Amino acid sequence: MKQPQSPSGTFITFEGIDGSGKSTQARLLADHLRDQGRDVVLTREPGGSPGAEEIRALVLQGDPDRWSAETEILLFTAARRDHLERTINPALAAGKIVICDRFADSTRMYQGLSRGDLRATVDQLHVLMIGREPDLTVLIDMDPDTGHARAKSRQTSEERFEDFGTDLQAQMRAGFLALATEFPERFRTIDGARAMETVAADVTRTVTDHLSSFG
Ligand code: ADP
Ligand code: TYD
Repeated sequence: MKQPQSPSGTFITFEGIDGSGKSTQARLLADHLRDQGRDVVLTREPGGSPGAEEIRALVLQGDPDRWSAETEILLFTAARRDHLERTINPALAAGKIVICDRFADSTRMYQGLSRGDLRATVDQLHVLMIGREPDLTVLIDMDPDTGHARAKSRQTSEERFEDFGTDLQAQMRAGFLALATEFPERFRTIDGARAMETVAADVTRTVTDHLSSFG
C-alpha cells in the first residue's frame, strides 16, 4: 500500500463530543496563528476535499440505517484517505500548520463504540489506509447535556450523530477521555465548559508550547 510522503509541517486535530466547541476553537486558533504570520490550513472531517465532502453528505444525511456499521467505517475511512491525499499531506509537505476539526479519533469513538465494539476494525483499517496520527490532538472536554443543548441550537440537516442523545454522548465523552490516557504524548485535554475566550487562551497556550518544542 502506497503511503504518502513524510511531511514536515504540524498536524493539529480537535476532538470532542458534538457541541463541545471544536469548530469554534479551531477557527479561533487558525485566526490567532495567521495573525502570528503562520501559514495555516483549516479543514474538517468528514470532508476537507471535494471527494470527501461528497462522502460527508452520504454519511451525515438521510436514513440513519442506510449503512451497516462496517460500511460506515469504510466510508469515513475513504473520505479520510482522500482528504489526506488531496489536502492534508500536500499542506504538511509545504511546511504548513494543518488544523483539522475531527480526525481518526472520531471514528475510533463514533464508529468504534456506538454500534458494538468495532474499535479493532477501525484501528486495522486506519493502519492500512491512513497510517498516521496527528502531532497534537486538542480534546475539548464537555458534559453531554451542555454539548447536546449547544449542538441542537444549530440549524442543520446533518443530525445523525447528534441525535444519539445524552446517554451515548456520555459514553463518547468517557471514550475520548480514555483515548487521551491511551495516547498521552499527543493528547491535551481542555475544559470546554467555560467562556469562549477562556477556552481559546488555553488552546493557544497548549499549541504554542507544542510549536516551540517541535514546530
Ligand atoms: P462543535 O464543533 O464541537 O460541534 P461548535 O464550535 O460548533 O461545536 O459550537 C457549538 C455551539 O456552541 C455554537 O453555536 C457555538 O457558537 C457555541 N459555543 C462554542 N463555544 C462556546 C462557549 N465556550 N460558550 C458558549 N457557547 C459556545
Ligand atoms: P461535525 O461536523 O464535526 O459535527 P459537530 O460540529 O456537531 O461536532 O461532525 C459531524 C458528525 O460526524 C459528528 O456527529 C461526528 C460524526 N463523525 C463520525 O461519526 N465519525 C467520524 O470519523 C467523523 C470524522 C465524524
